[in-house]
Amino acid sequence: MTEAPAGSLDAADRPVGVFDSGLGGLTVARAIFRRMPREALLYFGDTARVPYGSKSPDAVRHFSREAVHYLYSQGVKAVVVACNTATAHALHVLRAEAPVPVVGVVAAGARAAAAATRSRRVGIIGTAGTIDSGAYDLALRHLVGGEAVKVYAQPCPLFVPLVEEGLGDHPAAALIAAEYLQPLKEMAVDVLVLGCTHYPILAPLIAEVMGPEVILVDSAEEAAAELESVLAAHGLQSWRVESPTHRFTVSDLPIRFGSIGSRFFGDSMGRVEQVHVEGCLSEGPALW
Ligand code: DGL
Repeated sequence: MTEAPAGSLDAADRPVGVFDSGLGGLTVARAIFRRMPREALLYFGDTARVPYGSKSPDAVRHFSREAVHYLYSQGVKAVVVACNTATAHALHVLRAEAPVPVVGVVAAGARAAAAATRSRRVGIIGTAGTIDSGAYDLALRHLVGGEAVKVYAQPCPLFVPLVEEGLGDHPAAALIAAEYLQPLKEMAVDVLVLGCTHYPILAPLIAEVMGPEVILVDSAEEAAAELESVLAAHGLQSWRVESPTHRFTVSDLPIRFGSIGSRFFGDSMGRVEQVHVEGCLSEGPALW
């Protein structure tokens, strides 16, 4: 193991902020935690205003700005926008205002899809907001080169409530998945991007419907890998020896989040705090 660079400990030991509209970003937090177990996480789930997937781009941008300004006010060293809808609508604005590096989930997922496809026929599934934004389509065309890639996008709005209700194994989920995914099967995609934070929970079902020849891309894993490179490039990797303490915060009552969230995070989450992010834009971040 290499030594910690002298003088970098203060900034490097600050937490990584992870933001989602609700629970789903915990799949991204889990991927970060597994890849970088020394990093402390400050998670914010905007449970009072979820879902973002059916809201207008302006509303999602406004909510996202408040959320990340809250994270800045808590002294995070980097932010992961662990929500595909927020990344699709707001990443450019968040980056333009950010005092720290900001990683989204769309470019990371698109890069992995571009690397994995052989037939250049790629499927994307996500919320209506993510699909309507065309963000994955744009990112893939940019990476693979215009007309060389065929992108088939399919909104799957019922997947989020199925996951949140713990019904991923219910026969209804299999019926809905078959209905949503049939057009992508007909288009013979060889890669399918799980372009929503909740979908990794349904990955076994989606894989079964799509068949073994289709590669599933989990944008959570790809975003964690991108965060690792970004922290290294900025000299912000944590060198702590002891296990970090994570904080989980939400904008509505924390009870349900704590009980369902551990299924997403894959580990016990401890206490979940309720915080208020409205007004964070006008207060300004503490550490700028
Ligand atoms: N987190 C959202 C996403 O990845 C899904 C849930 C929502 O609609 O807010 O797009």
